[in-house]
Amino acid sequence: MSDFSLRLRQWQQHSGRHHLPWQVNDAYCVWLSEIMLQQTQVSTVLDYYPRFLQRFPTLADLAAAPLDDVLALWSGLGYYTRARNLHACAQAVMRDFAGQFPNDPTLIASLPGIGRSTAAAIAAFSYGYRAAILDGNVKRVLTRWAGIEGYPGVKAIENQLWQLAESLLPASCTDSQQAASDIKAHTQGLMDLGATICTPKNPSCLLCPIASDCQARQSDRQAELPTRKPK
Ligand code: ADE
Repeated sequence: MSDFSLRLRQWQQHSGRHHLPWQVNDAYCVWLSEIMLQQTQVSTVLDYYPRFLQRFPTLADLAAAPLDDVLALWSGLGYYTRARNLHACAQAVMRDFAGQFPNDPTLIASLPGIGRSTAAAIAAFSYGYRAAILDGNVKRVLTRWAGIEGYPGVKAIENQLWQLAESLLPASCTDSQQAASDIKAHTQGLMDLGATICTPKNPSCLLCPIASDCQARQSDRQAELPTRKPK
């Protein structure tokens, strides 16, 4: 268990994704990309994200814009509640946080349209804050690695996964620069592993940095985990 994060980060450094346009130390950019990426694939977001930033270069621009302009730029991305929440969130950050995204994930998660995992991703990527993410891809990685049976949509299983995700974070570190770079590589590594290696079908276990102690792999249960939703 102890070097899970080390192996993940080393793998992320040589095989993960490094040149995505939202990999910047800017909470506005990170937040915008995370909301877009919630239900849309990377290739589509690569098209919408720069156009959105061109029209709304700052959080203040977005907050001041008419909702219809935001919806027009969102057109084609689907799940329009995201766009409405985006606009409301920009206004809330202007009003309640003087235009600066808070760095505490609990505060970030109090904003419209942001759940616990997205809040942690924003805090980790933009501020180097040590917090665990748990999106659909990460649930798959962790249920397989730890051999956790049971549908992850059930609260008890989800709580178990959150605890596991927390326990696997990189060790706290007194060098704050190092700590920030560790949590960023760890978080991006989990996302990249779930998207490119630990895929729903035919995972590429031979290339996986955590395969040596993966419970699903040891018992050949990759296809059974995560447990599907009961009928
Ligand atoms: N999916 C969700 N967040 C992502 C990110 N930061 N990079 C790539 N894919 C993602």
